[in-house]
Amino acid sequence: MPGAKITAVGCYVPERILTNQDLERMVDTSDAWIVERTGIRKRHIADPSMATSDMAVEAAREALLARGMDPADVEVIIVCTVTPDMMFPSTACLVQDRLGCRHAWGFDLIAACSGFVYGLTTAAHFIRAGAYRRILVIGADTMSRIVNYRDRTTCVLFGDAAGAFLVEPTEEGEVGFIDSYNIIDGSGAPYLNMPAGGSRMPPSHETVEKGLHYVHQDGQQVFKYAVRTMYETCQLVLDRNSLRPEDIGVFLPHQANKRIITAVASRLGLPEDRVIINIDEYGNTTAATIPLAARDAMRAGKLRRGTLTLIAAVGAGYTAGVNLWRWEID
Ligand code: UT7
Repeated sequence: MPGAKITAVGCYVPERILTNQDLERMVDTSDAWIVERTGIRKRHIADPSMATSDMAVEAAREALLARGMDPADVEVIIVCTVTPDMMFPSTACLVQDRLGCRHAWGFDLIAACSGFVYGLTTAAHFIRAGAYRRILVIGADTMSRIVNYRDRTTCVLFGDAAGAFLVEPTEEGEVGFIDSYNIIDGSGAPYLNMPAGGSRMPPSHETVEKGLHYVHQDGQQVFKYAVRTMYETCQLVLDRNSLRPEDIGVFLPHQANKRIITAVASRLGLPEDRVIINIDEYGNTTAATIPLAARDAMRAGKLRRGTLTLIAAVGAGYTAGVNLWRWEID
């Protein structure tokens, strides 16, 4: 069975910045509350002309360039997103056309904040099955399009961005993908969702007037579930691979709230300097947080060839997932 490894990372972050001070002028909030309760200081917002596929294309191009890969050689494109350009065709189709991936097929994967972990798991198993050799996994979300900037409980949390990994077979002596553990718990659906716009509640004047095309969240419920589940799923993966916390070189957690990350890391016993936190800069970019965290960890010199990397996310659904990889990029 061939192994799977991550061979390149690419990211795109819009230039425009929305600071906590900007938000203070829009809703009844304060920089102090946002920093203390979430760890977020700013988030990046896409220009009105830009949609999710545009950011996804930029991130994927950067990854292909880093690897020196011709877009025509990509075989599968998985776009993880809850903010597709439109319901159909899939964002993967739009990305395939724009990039010129003439020999690829692909699809969108809806798993909210766990999307990228599910996408990575899927890519790893496609490679291990021997079915494909070059897979683009993209996490891209334009959350600013579905956030209500009059609702202080959600609008301070989210930002826009895209990130991409290339996944390919390992070479002799490389490890790459080691393990994954993913779950869904649909009983969590009421606590984080966008109620309207689908077949249950199609768009109407009423759905627009009632604000049902925006993100709705019961923050406390999601917070409690996230801390417990991220800890339990990570611990399960550590245990079944006979790993101690100090064996983990880098922890790349989904960035939803700094307090969730530090609570999970401390329960797991992970040393602070191995935990990547960049939520202060980007906010919660949903499917893009993990590739952004990987890029920043690489830039900081913490993530390099040989680093044992634990990746974890929890999100709407509920969804949750953990991946364990040996990093194989220099
Ligand atoms: O990535 C997808 C998964 N999502 C998550 O993991 C998010 C999980 N949840 C959270 O991160 C946190 O629950 C939030 C950051 C959303 C909220 O923090 P919290 O500490 O749970 O606050 P809370 O909802 O318990 O609200 C505490 C108070 C309330 O006021 P009262 O009722 O005590 O008077 C809120 O109305 O804080 C108030 N509040 C705010 N105040 C200033 C809520 N949002 C704000 C705000 N600015 N932006």
